[in-house]
Amino acid sequence: MRIAVTGGAGFIGSHTVVALANAGHHPIIIDDFRNSKPFIVGRLESLCKGKPSFHEADCNDRDKMAGIFEKEQPEGIIHFAAYKAVGESVREPLKYYRNNVGSLLNVLELQRQFGIPYFVFSSSCTVYGVPDELPVTETSPVKKAQSPYGFTKQVGEQILFDLQKAASESAKSVILRYFNPIGAHPSGLIGELPLGEPENLVPYITQTAAGIREQLTIFGKDYETPDGTAIRDYIHVMDLAEAHVRAIDWLAEKRSEAGTEVFNLGAGSGSSVKEVVETFEDVSGLKLNYRYGPRRPGDVPAIYANADKALKILGWAVQRKLSDALRDAWNWQQQLQKLPV
Ligand code: WQD
Repeated sequence: MRIAVTGGAGFIGSHTVVALANAGHHPIIIDDFRNSKPFIVGRLESLCKGKPSFHEADCNDRDKMAGIFEKEQPEGIIHFAAYKAVGESVREPLKYYRNNVGSLLNVLELQRQFGIPYFVFSSSCTVYGVPDELPVTETSPVKKAQSPYGFTKQVGEQILFDLQKAASESAKSVILRYFNPIGAHPSGLIGELPLGEPENLVPYITQTAAGIREQLTIFGKDYETPDGTAIRDYIHVMDLAEAHVRAIDWLAEKRSEAGTEVFNLGAGSGSSVKEVVETFEDVSGLKLNYRYGPRRPGDVPAIYANADKALKILGWAVQRKLSDALRDAWNWQQQLQKLPV
């Protein structure tokens, strides 16, 4: 199928473009490089079977997007385009509400205008806030958002649920709640590309190992966890990308039955920050320069997924381990310094 991938030059979007192409779909990349770089498109062309379509556009630009949809006639949409830095969203809420909610509304209106049947929404485990019990399932309560970023994901999900309730024929959608995506394509040609100082753990680790950052600070050593550091469910970005292909294929297979389905996408187990650091040291053979610092405001002590529903319904489960993701992340970091961008 012809699948529009908004934010398709971004971290998860670019890996999904490769997975789509290699599964025989035709990706239509839509990105304005506000959180990526143009060289990624060339790298994608070298990684994909067949040449993906590409359009530089802002999802908030309704006319330009309509022109692209008119030309490309997508049969499905995977909507990644959004800001995703929790800390920044606290500092600049308006930027997050305008872009994350505004672009989703635009794309959903275009979906209806062009009668596009399938829609996959990029959501996040952030919607669970501080979970009452672990692991979290898709029916675990959605808690008060810890940040404007998290709230934009909750609002996005609600919009899709309300569209479904309105029994709008075109509203066949899947909501994918990511846990912590890490790693890179094994080729080292695409990966996480934080613009400026990374907020997320793994790019901070690889930049510290590469000497770009002086020292990693582990935020908090006094959590109620075995080693005192916070626990997350880290998932290889290639596993995550493959889940998107399964989701769009499932929508097409179940056209009559599908409504709006939610899936947790995680490894189904938790790793502490310290375990991630130690695993990185094992796979890289390097000693990482780190210290312990105070907890980061807004962090939850521990969260990891129950991913049984994705296995049962989508036939999807992670195939790669934490060490694979860290090895691939380190390889990408090293290539980044070598290859022209
Ligand atoms: C992981 C752990 C930090 C940096 C967020 C969003 C989530 C998704 C991924 C978009 C935490 C610790 C981090 C550092 C550290 N974003 N850490 N030192 O906050 O779990 O999830 O990013 O899809 O929606 O909520 O990810 O990588 O920032 O942090 O100790 O320099 O690493 O405190 O415990 P997080 P993260």
